[in-house]
Amino acid sequence: MPSNVKTIEWAGNAVRLIDQTLLPTELKVLDCTTLEQVAEAIQRLRVRGAPAIGAAAGFGLALVARRSEAQSVASLLGELEQAQAVLAATRPTAVNLFWALERMMRCAQAQAEGSVQRLKEALLAEAEAIAREDEAANRRMGQYGAELIPDGANVLTHCNAGALATAGYGTALGVIRAAVEAGKKVHVYADETRPLLQGARLTAWEMVQEHIPVTVITDNMAGHLMQQGRIDLALVGADRIAANGDVANKIGTYTVAVLAKHHGLPFYVAAPRSTIDFSLTSGTEIPIEERSPDEVVNFRGVRTAPAGVRVYNPAFDVTPHDLVTAIITEQGVVRPPYTEGLAALEEPQ
Ligand code: MRU
Repeated sequence: MPSNVKTIEWAGNAVRLIDQTLLPTELKVLDCTTLEQVAEAIQRLRVRGAPAIGAAAGFGLALVARRSEAQSVASLLGELEQAQAVLAATRPTAVNLFWALERMMRCAQAQAEGSVQRLKEALLAEAEAIAREDEAANRRMGQYGAELIPDGANVLTHCNAGALATAGYGTALGVIRAAVEAGKKVHVYADETRPLLQGARLTAWEMVQEHIPVTVITDNMAGHLMQQGRIDLALVGADRIAANGDVANKIGTYTVAVLAKHHGLPFYVAAPRSTIDFSLTSGTEIPIEERSPDEVVNFRGVRTAPAGVRVYNPAFDVTPHDLVTAIITEQGVVRPPYTEGLAALEEPQ
């Protein structure tokens, strides 16, 4: 990614983000100056990827506070609660959204006895911290994960878990970056990732920008390539991980995990602790977003299936933990049994 652009950042009086719906043909930043614009950007996937959604929500609440004309802390807290509800309704699966909103509200409530001005400053500092800590976590994750990537590996990815999906560096792609930075040769097979092509549009774009060799395949080619011995391991990100290690990620991830198991290949998940939902004992409890049928039967305005046809469009699936070889976090690599290994991760201060 060009070093002068960030996936998401605070721009003085706006939340500035790359409009990812336009990539790879256009690299354009969008300044969101209202809560509604931030919510629309998350809902429409202008900003997407679990940690990036969390960072966007954090900056969204900081924006609401900054623009507020409330004269008392109590009324500003009321406005923030309403904004929290608006942002929480944008997308249901990525737990980082709710994690970030709750963290921001805890920060706001801690200022209940202070001034309106102090509350506004504290919220912006908290949103900046969420973004900064996310990028730092990804870099640490990269160091741990790089050890699992053999020199010369062919790595299959699904969706985009790169700098664009986070506040910087990436989770799964961060691991690949760190392996390359450590001097290893890595070749990426990027699943195109129907229906919105996060793999073909975004993963391939990031890899091309960084001169990391990448080959795009359609989602239905992965099994064939594994059968031919052309893939050494699969590496993906996550939107929510249950306490037992079940992993929700972009639709099609489960298929990749089953294929990897059949072919005796490692299936790794890279995710920060903020993606783990300890309140859910298993992946069956993870809410799966269902999106508009239009995404399946149209592509950029061109109809690809007959009018009137029934469509089902779940945006995520759940990979059971027994198909997951290891979960790479910023605190180290967790292996089965996951219930114990994940519970041992420390809550960041
Ligand atoms: O619908 P998206 O594009 O937000 O889905 C994103 C994914 O599934 C990613 O793999 C996941 O959020 C991990 S991002 C580091």
